[in-house]
Amino acid sequence: MDISKGKIIISGGKPLVGEIPVSGMKNAAVAIVLSTILTEDKCIIENLPDISDVNLSLEILKSVGVKVTKIDKNTVEIDSTSATPGIAPYDLVSKMRASYYLIGAELGRFGRAFVGLPGGCDFGVRPIDLHIKGFEALGCEVKVDGGYIEATAKDGVLQGSSVYMDMVTVGGTINVMLAAVRAEGTTVIENAAHEPHIVDTANFLNACGADISGAGTDVIKIRGVKKLHGVTYTIIPDMIEAGTFMILAAATGGELKITNVIPKHLDSISAKLLEMGVEVEEDGDSVTVRRGKKPLTKVNVKTLPYPGFPTDMNPQICVLLALAQGMSRLTEGVWESRFRYVEELKRMGARINMNGRTAEVEGIPKLTGASVRAVDLRAGCAMVIAGLAADGITEIDEIYHIFRGYEDLIAKLQAVGADIKVVYPKSLQFNEF
Ligand code: EPU
Repeated sequence: MDISKGKIIISGGKPLVGEIPVSGMKNAAVAIVLSTILTEDKCIIENLPDISDVNLSLEILKSVGVKVTKIDKNTVEIDSTSATPGIAPYDLVSKMRASYYLIGAELGRFGRAFVGLPGGCDFGVRPIDLHIKGFEALGCEVKVDGGYIEATAKDGVLQGSSVYMDMVTVGGTINVMLAAVRAEGTTVIENAAHEPHIVDTANFLNACGADISGAGTDVIKIRGVKKLHGVTYTIIPDMIEAGTFMILAAATGGELKITNVIPKHLDSISAKLLEMGVEVEEDGDSVTVRRGKKPLTKVNVKTLPYPGFPTDMNPQICVLLALAQGMSRLTEGVWESRFRYVEELKRMGARINMNGRTAEVEGIPKLTGASVRAVDLRAGCAMVIAGLAADGITEIDEIYHIFRGYEDLIAKLQAVGADIKVVYPKSLQFNEF
């Protein structure tokens, strides 16, 4: 049954208790999968989340001649020996923002790329001018025309160079890194983003024989190498999925032991939860979040590039602020528009007033179940949290967004006591997931 056609139905109001595992990181996986093109060899990627954005990345690879073999649910063998700098179909790349990594990877391997402009969640204008500026600094001519982007290196060879990012961009940093890895000479990216998926992508490339230092800091140095080779590589855990479960424990007044995490990546989220009166305990590769009967305290949050509070946790933390005593302020510091979910949350009784890029949230003791939409990936997950915390029944529509980024979400939540299911319209015989 096609999950994108279903609706999530939740009967909320119960504390969730138990152990919940975290899958591999979506935003590392999509970058690493597409960057395997650079190796001209076989790679085995482990801990790959089984989500639609990753499966789309694998389809994009196949469309340019890469051989993809699923070994099991979370392991794939990717053989890019016979990749060609072909045109990935527009209907594939336009579905996902991260398809832009195909440009950097093709440039790095072939010295040229021709790729459809990317899609993804709608947070207002999502330019890729800084990616283009970076490719140009490496000696490429870049044209954007008719929904496609065409980049060609002079004489087919990219030249290492200095690239200053005018603003911190995750995708721009990774894309320039991909293009530079096999360039002639050294590239230095300044004002680079620090996100853990940048470090994971650099670690993967270094394991393949690249020479990248400084990933995770402001300055990344890439000494170009002639060739990369295949490896077996394990993707890091998804900090946003982990953070989502942390908020879920607090919002439902439950206790969740969230396993397969890197607690350091969760520092900004743990700090806000502690400030709100929620207990957070780290233990090796797990974190336990417990709220009990204590009321939540108001708090101010501003989303920022890593190590700041993640923008991809904006909708989820907003649900918690909606349940905290007093007036909290949530300011979006990365995307122009990330608050399209606010109207949905208000249908569940949340009291939120928008003031520019700040949501002023007046907490209430309980949300009430309602019919809502998943307006994008993280917003959709916030609706799941809200529904599980709320009294009564919540129905969530347009749930295909959610399955772009959360593996086995329904089963994971049912295992910790959630009353949640997916139902399908009559035309699809009301089969349940
Ligand atoms: N920006 C520019 N020009 C550019 C690139 C970015 O002005 O050339 C601006 C953007 O408009 C935005 C800011 O810079 O205001 C940051 O954008 P960034 O490039 O860092 O975002 P991204 O790489 O496209 C990734 C994640 C997003 C996450 C952001 C910020 C992937 C595939 N996506 O996007 O994840 O919100 O970084 O952390 O890695 C999600 O997983 O739900 C998601 C949307």
